[in-house]
Amino acid sequence: MPIFWRPQMSIGHEEIDADHRYLILLINTVELVLRFPENRPHIEMALEELRRYAAGHFEREERIQIAWGYIHLDQHKQEHRQLLRELDGLVERIQALLDDPAVGADGLRDKSQELIHFLRHWLVEHVMKSDMLLVPLFKKSRVF
Ligand SMILES: [Fe+2]
Repeated sequence: MPIFWRPQMSIGHEEIDADHRYLILLINTVELVLRFPENRPHIEMALEELRRYAAGHFEREERIQIAWGYIHLDQHKQEHRQLLRELDGLVERIQALLDDPAVGADGLRDKSQELIHFLRHWLVEHVMKSDMLLVPLFKKSRVF
């Protein structure tokens, strides 16, 4: 089941919300390509794009936090680093599954539910718990 961006996920900053919507789309793409493990290049492209975009998004979000004078920037940055490590771990796990002839296409399809559950949780938890703390910041006027 794909996930959909909901208005409750809005942080109140157009660029960040647009990035989150695109990250959801990429997670849905990973879910889709994992259904066809025989198409390994598609899986690798989708994971690469998710990794690349997530890293860029975290940097953009941190720059916005600096511009708005967010006081918990360091903690938030640590979380982003941890999220990227977790994502790398997941990518390695998928690659190991693809490399293991004992797993096969059916085995990967069986595991894909768990992998996607992890990815959805990975993003939605961070957005709803940590990024949500930014909402009051964007309600204030910008201080230069
Ligand atoms: Fe964040």
